[in-house]
This record gives sequence, structure tokens and C-alpha cells, in this order.
Amino acid sequence: MTSTRLRIRALLARPAGDETLVVRGFVRTVRSGKNVTFVALNDGSCFANLQVVLDAGVVDDATLAAVGTGASVECHGVLAASLGGGQAVELRATSLRLLGAVGEDYPLQKKRHSLEFLREIAHLRPRANTFGAVFRVRSAVAQAVHRFFEAEDFAYVHTPILTSIDCEGGGEMFRVTTLDVEPPRDGAGRPRIEDDFFGKPAMLTVSGQLAGECLAMGLGQIYTFGPTFRAENSNTSRHAAEFWMIEPEAAFYDLDDDAALAERCVRALVGDALERCAEDLAFFDAQIERGLLERLRKVRDASFERMTYTEAVARLERAGRTFEFPVGWGLNLQAEHERYLTEEVVGRPLVVTDYPKGIKAFYMRRNDDGRTVAAMDLLVPGVGELIGGSQREERLDVLCATMAEHGLPQDAYGFYLDTRRHGTVPHAGFGLGFERFLMFLTGVENIRDVIPFPRTPRHCAY
Ligand code: 4AD
Ligand code: MG
Repeated sequence: MTSTRLRIRALLARPAGDETLVVRGFVRTVRSGKNVTFVALNDGSCFANLQVVLDAGVVDDATLAAVGTGASVECHGVLAASLGGGQAVELRATSLRLLGAVGEDYPLQKKRHSLEFLREIAHLRPRANTFGAVFRVRSAVAQAVHRFFEAEDFAYVHTPILTSIDCEGGGEMFRVTTLDVEPPRDGAGRPRIEDDFFGKPAMLTVSGQLAGECLAMGLGQIYTFGPTFRAENSNTSRHAAEFWMIEPEAAFYDLDDDAALAERCVRALVGDALERCAEDLAFFDAQIERGLLERLRKVRDASFERMTYTEAVARLERAGRTFEFPVGWGLNLQAEHERYLTEEVVGRPLVVTDYPKGIKAFYMRRNDDGRTVAAMDLLVPGVGELIGGSQREERLDVLCATMAEHGLPQDAYGFYLDTRRHGTVPHAGFGLGFERFLMFLTGVENIRDVIPFPRTPRHCAY
């Protein structure tokens, strides 16, 4: 007799039949009646559990006693139409083997735990419903990112994680060194950086953009999708010290092309998730954010709003409410301002363009007004800034002048200036925060809950 091992998702899609099937998974719940025991089994392949029906005598009492929430088991059986509601088929087990018993102190015995509690046991929480769903969606969206850019004819490139350049100029970088905490010092007591691995300071990258621009000058259209690191000491629900960013960069793109690409990207990823992650998103809709599916369908189906920074500030000044942070032309927009604009002023995703040059990075293209740059941020309800991007300064003389204003040493950026010296072209790109997108997609409100092992100030578990 054949025994086919199936993942539960595949198994639940089959009709009842006589074939003996094998399934392995983790016990979610056990309900024992007089003559029959029901085991709800989950193997991570989908949100739904498989109901395994054990008639009396199929397993001995000692084994049955060890089959508790969290135990791992292998079951053989046949699929039968389910008599109970909630599932079309169930597995009538002919045998059950205990693979791993569970200790008495297994912390996921209870049905519902707070997200805060689960955060403390990041190594076990993938077995909880919510995190199974979050990490399945995370996987599906990562795949969809590659499909989207392949369809847009962008090449996937890998840019360095170790770097000697601060792309954003924010100075919020983690230092990487092989020197001791007490480094060797020169005669004047200064650390001998030339003894370090690279012979000069090295950091973890905050963005792959500058390398991405070099690649776009050859390949035309590229994107990166990788980890980025920021030593911002901001303990907020939307900042992590280690996060993933998707950064497209395209030669011959201007700011409008860039904003249009960002809109196509977000709408396509949302549409893809609605189709491929329907079961998990339905759970988020029911348990995390009421109305989530409706909100996502609107994002997929309707175009985004556009507004200049100057207009955005005027709208904030007219808001007739007091914000925690000050509002004024030339000041950064804070999360509360961003959310007010996207949630209450326009009620959908909003692209804000043309920010003051003083609050944006050196590489953004100077506008003719001399005061603003060709920047764009995409703001979305629930999150605020999801994307930051710009058209890049392609004019060598303007770029050199801006770098001097920002106090950046031209020798360290010689490679970057070369791209403007040789065959410079208008080009643009953006960075989409992958975790911020997942928050937007699932309704999960804290970035720590969409990252398997989050890194935030004073938190680096395992
Ligand atoms: O706006 P940012 O800083 O832009 C850049 O890094 C550009 N070099 C991107 C480019 O044009 N290629 O970051 C881009 C996005 C933000 O909009 C946000 O979604 C996310 O990255 N992000 C963070 N996500 C989580 N934790 C943090 N600490 C983040 N900082 C930025
Ligand atoms: Mg930004």
C-alpha cells in the first residue's frame, strides 16, 4: 500500500479517498471524548489545522497521554468527509507516532497570548497562529517583489553590506571592526585604524542606493532587496535597527516616473497578497484589524494622491489641531503629521513631493526654485512613511556644490562623482521598507511583530 506524505495545505485540498496518507506536524489542541480523540494538527503550510480523528485503541494510553499541545507527531490515515463543521475533510488515523513530547512548561499552552508576551519568546512564537500567518505572508511578498521587478524588466543586483560610505549622511551607522574594544593606539593615543581589517573605518550599510546607482548606469534598471542597518536610537513601533529594504534605481527616470513605479509596485504587491495570501489575510481582518481586506482592495483598485511638501505643510497648518511636534515649512514631517495627511486629509496612500533641500539627503536633485529637491515620500494609512525616494542630482557641478554644503569629503565619493563625469543621465529610485509594507498589509502595529528576530535598541536576542 502506498503512503504519500503530504503537507497539510495540499492534504486539505484533496477529496476524501482510500489512499493511506502520512502527515507530520505540531499538535495545536487535543479534545478527548469517550471513544474518540480529536487532534488539531498544524504544520505551518497554511493557517488551517487538520483534524485528526483517533478512534479508541489506535494509540496506547501512554502515547495518548503525551500527545499534548506543542508535541510533534506523525499520523497515517485516510481522508474522510468530516462530520463536524469547520472542515471538509479530516484524517481518520490508523496510527500515530509521537515524534517529540512537550515539556510541562511549554509556554504556548494557552490559546491567546499578548503580542508583547510572544515577543519575549521569539524562538517559539513561529508556532503561534498569528506569527505563522505573518511569516507566511512575509515569504509570499518577498517572492512577489521579485516577480514584480522581473515583469518591469529590472535586474536584481546585490550591493555591499559592509561599506565605508554613509549613504544617507545621517551618521547612524554600526561600526564593523576586527580591532579589540581597546584598539592599538598611535604615539598620540589615537586608535590605529590602519591596523583594522580594511585599513579604514567600515560600517554596516544604511542603504544600497549609491552602489545601485552605479549598477543602473550599466544595466539601466536595477533593484536591490537586502538587509540594511540603522543605529538610530529611536524606540518606536516602526523603527528597527536591522530591516530589509527594496531599492529600485532606473536610468532615464524622472520623479514622475519614480512615483508611478512606486505606485505600481505597492498596488501590485497588495493585489498579489490578496490573491495568494487570502486565508492569512482573512485572519488578520478578523483578529488584528477589522476592515483590513476592504482597505487593501481600495489600495489595489484606486490611484494614489499627490501633493507637494509645501501644500502638505499648508494642510497641516490648517488642520486646526495641536500636534506633538511643530509644523512649519522647512521642518521634517513627523509620523503624526504623515498619518494625519494620508489618513484624514486624503484617506488613501499619498505621495508627497518636493521637500526643502535642508531636510533631505545630498544626492537628491535640486529643483529650479533653489529651495526644494525632487524628493518623494509615499505615505500610507496606519504606518506613515512607507517609501522614500527621489530623482538624483545628475549634474556634476550642482552635485559637487551640494556635497560641499553637506560637508561631505569629495575624495571618499570619487566613485560616485565618476558616474556624473562619464555619461551622466537623469535617473531616479526609491527605498521601500519591507517591514513597513508588511505592517501596512497585515494591520500588525509594531514592527517587532513582522520580523522573526527583531533588533531594536537594547534588544538583540539570540
Ligand atoms: O527614506 P529612507 O531613509 O531612504 C533611503 O535610504 C534611500 N537611500 C532609498 C533610495 O532612494 N534608494 O529609507 C527608505 C525606507 C523608509 O521609507 C522606510 O520605509 C524604511 O526604509 N526605513 C525603515 N524601516 C524600518 N526601520 C527603520 N529604522 C527604517 N528606516 C527607514
Ligand atoms: Mg525617508
